[in-house]
Amino acid sequence: MSYTIAVLPGDGIGIEITAEAVKLLDYLQGRGLDIEMQQAPVGGAGYDAAGKPLPDETRVLVQAADAILLGAVGGPQYEDLPRDLRPERGLLGLRSELGLFANLRPAVLYPQLAAASSLKYDVVAGLDIMIVRELTGGIYFGEPRGIRDKASGEREGYNTLVYAESEIERIARVAFDIAMKRGKRLCSVDKANVLEVSELWREIVTKTGDDYPQVELSHMYVDNAAMQLVKWPKQFDVMVTKNMFGDILSDAAAMLTGSIGMLPSASLDQDSKGMYEPIHGSAPDIAGKGVANPLATILSVAMMLRYSLDQAALAEKIEQAVGRVLDRGLRTPDIMAEGCQQVGTLEMGEAVLAELSV
Ligand code: IPM
Ligand code: MG
Repeated sequence: MSYTIAVLPGDGIGIEITAEAVKLLDYLQGRGLDIEMQQAPVGGAGYDAAGKPLPDETRVLVQAADAILLGAVGGPQYEDLPRDLRPERGLLGLRSELGLFANLRPAVLYPQLAAASSLKYDVVAGLDIMIVRELTGGIYFGEPRGIRDKASGEREGYNTLVYAESEIERIARVAFDIAMKRGKRLCSVDKANVLEVSELWREIVTKTGDDYPQVELSHMYVDNAAMQLVKWPKQFDVMVTKNMFGDILSDAAAMLTGSIGMLPSASLDQDSKGMYEPIHGSAPDIAGKGVANPLATILSVAMMLRYSLDQAALAEKIEQAVGRVLDRGLRTPDIMAEGCQQVGTLEMGEAVLAELSV
C-alpha cells in the first residue's frame, strides 16, 4: 500500500518543525515505508504565494492525499487582512472541506517532564487523557453569522451554535470507540443546564452509549470540567465535546503536561484520512531562531502512522525514541530544566532519528 502525504509547513515555526518531521519520514521511507511526500503552502504562506490562505494548488493536493502533515499557521503580518484572507481561514477551510470532524488531542505527561508542569507532581504524574473535539460544526461554522447594524444605530455581532443529531452521534461514536481501546471511561462535556443544543447533545450521546455497554459514560458541565481538569485531571480517561469547548479545554489540558510544545493531534474524517498537526501555534516570537520544540510535530507523525497509515508498531517506536531522548536529558528551551542539556530544533530532531536507528 502506497500513501501520499501532503506536507503543509505553514507559517512561523511551522517551517522549521515540519522540516524535522520530514527528515523522520524520509528516514522511514528509506527503511521501506511506502510514502510519497508533496509540499504546498497554507495560511499566511498561502496568502503570500497565491493571495489566499488555502490556494487551489494546495486544495487539490490535500484532496488527493491519504494524510496531511501541517505545521502551524498565522503571524502578526497577517492580522490586519480581511477575515476571509487570514491564515486561520486556511486551517478552518481544510478541516471543513475535508470533513475532518473528529479531532483527537491526547494530553500525555512524559514522566521526564513532570517538573515542567505548573501543577504538583502527584496531580499530573502518569497523566494520560484523550480529548475528542468535534471539529467541523458548532459555533465555528454555524450560520447565520456576522456583524450587523441594529435599528438603534449600534452594531451587534452574532454566531450560531448548532448541532444536528447525526453530527453528535458520529463524534460520540469516535469517542466511544477510543474509550473501548483505553480505560473504557468517557466523559461528555456540555452546557445542558443552559443551552438547548447541549440538551440534545447529552440525549444523543447517552443514546449512542447504549451500543457501548462496557463504557462508563458520565456527563459534566463545561465550567466544572475546566475546574476538574486543573483540580484532579487523572479522573478523566476520554472526554468528548463540542468544537469550541474542545478548543478551550484542550489548551488547559495541554498545560498540565508542562509544555504545549509536546502535544500532537489528529483530525480524522469518516474513513481515517487525517490531518496531523502539533496543537501549538506558529509562535512568531521564536520563529526562525532554531529553538522551537519539534517533538509535537514528530509525535504527530506517530499519530499519522497509527491512524492513517496502519503502522501502529512504527508509531510506538517513534514515541519510545522520543522518550529515550528525554531520558538522555535533551531539552528545547520550552521544556528546559535544571541538570538537562539545552538543544535547538535541529539537534532535537537529529536525536530522535539517532534513537530510532538503534
Ligand atoms: C486550535 C486553534 C484553532 C482553533 C485556531 C487557530 C483557528 O486554536 O486548533 O485549537 O480555534 O481551532
Ligand atoms: Mg485552540
